[in-house]
Amino acid sequence: MVNLKDYGIEMWDNDKITSFRRTLLAWYDQEKRDLPWRRTSNPYYIWISEIMLQQTQVVTVIPYYERFLEWFPTVADLANAPEEKLLKAWEGLGYYSRVRNMQKAAQQIMSDFDETFPSKYEDIVSLKGIGPYTAGAIASIAFNLPEPAVDGNVMRVMARLFEVDYDIGDPKNRKIFQAIMEILIDPERPGDFNQALMDLGTDIESAKNPRPDESPIRFFNAAYLNGTYDKYPIKLPKKKPKPLEIQAFIIRNQEGELLLEKKTQERLLGGFWSFPLIETSFISQQTSLFEDENTFLETISQKDNFEESYAIKPTWTERNFRQLKHTFSHQKWTMTLFEGLINKEELQESQYLHWVKIDDLDSYPMATPQKKMLAEYLKKES
Ligand code: ADE
Repeated sequence: MVNLKDYGIEMWDNDKITSFRRTLLAWYDQEKRDLPWRRTSNPYYIWISEIMLQQTQVVTVIPYYERFLEWFPTVADLANAPEEKLLKAWEGLGYYSRVRNMQKAAQQIMSDFDETFPSKYEDIVSLKGIGPYTAGAIASIAFNLPEPAVDGNVMRVMARLFEVDYDIGDPKNRKIFQAIMEILIDPERPGDFNQALMDLGTDIESAKNPRPDESPIRFFNAAYLNGTYDKYPIKLPKKKPKPLEIQAFIIRNQEGELLLEKKTQERLLGGFWSFPLIETSFISQQTSLFEDENTFLETISQKDNFEESYAIKPTWTERNFRQLKHTFSHQKWTMTLFEGLINKEELQESQYLHWVKIDDLDSYPMATPQKKMLAEYLKKES
C-alpha cells in the first residue's frame, strides 16, 4: 500500500473529494464526447475500443472499431477468426501483436471463462494483452467497478492537481497515481469518472497546449492555484540507450549442432540461452590500463579473445554476415557474427554450455537479439 504522505502528497478531506467528483461529473454530463463505445456496456466492445485507443486517436479509431465489430461481432468470432482477416481488420493501426494478443485473450475467454467476458478485475487483468490500465477501463466502464484507469493522461491531470514531484515517465511511480485515483474515483459512477478524466486529459488538460483557465476542476488544481502549472507533470527525458558492440560466435560441430550458452549475469540477458557473446566496450574497459588501447584491440582480435575465454580453438570460416542491430530500452546493440567449427569432443558440455541440434533450438528460451542472430545464420548464403 502506498502512503501518499511519503510522497509529499496531502490528500483532501471527504467534503472536498465529494465536491470534486460532483464538479467533474457535472462537466462530463454536459460536455462528454458522443463516441460509439459510450453507447454500450458490452465489455467486449469496450475492450476493443480501449485497445485501439492505446495507439490511435479517437477520430481514426471510429471506422476501425465499427468494422471490427461487423466482422467479429462476438468473442467467439474473434477467437475463431482466420489470421488473415484479423490482420486485415488491423491494417493501418500497426502494433499487430495487440490484435494477436486479443485473439489469444478471446480464446482464453472461450476456454477458461465459459465463453463469457469475465466481470472481476483479477480475471480481466489475467487476459493476454490486458494490463492494469485496460483492465481498469473495462472493469469501470462495463461493470461499474471502482477501478481506476491510469494512463499518461490521468497521471498528467493528477500530477497537476496535487503537484506530484515524481516523474510520470517512470513506471515505478505509477503506483502513486493509482493510489490517488483509488481515493478520488466516484464509487457510483466509476466508468464516467475515468472517462471524464480521459476527455479532460486529451483536450483541456493536454500535454502540449493545455487551456487551464477552461478546466472545470481548476479550483481543485494545486498547480493552477499556486502558479506552478508549467512545472507539472514532471517528465524527465528518457535516457538514451547505451550503444554496445557485441561480437557473437556461432560455433558448429561436425554433427551440425550449435553451441549455446546460458547467461547467468543479469547484465546480459540472464536466464536466456545465447550464442557465446563478447561485448567490445566491456573489453576496452578491462584493457584501459594499456596506454594505447586501440593498438591493443587491433592486435588482439575478438576471435582470440573468444578462444582464450572458452579455451577452444575453432577453425573460423570466411562466411560474412550482415551486421545486426537491436535496441532495448537501456542498450542499443550492434552485433557482428562469426562462424567457427570445432570437434564436439574439444568442448566439455556443462549445465551452462550445450550443443543443440538446430531442430531443438525452439526449446531453449532465446531473447530477440539471439533470434535475429539465428535467423541471419540460417539464411542461405547468397
Ligand atoms: N481513450 C482511451 N479510452 C477512451 C475512452 N473510453 N473514451 C475516450 N478516449 C479514450
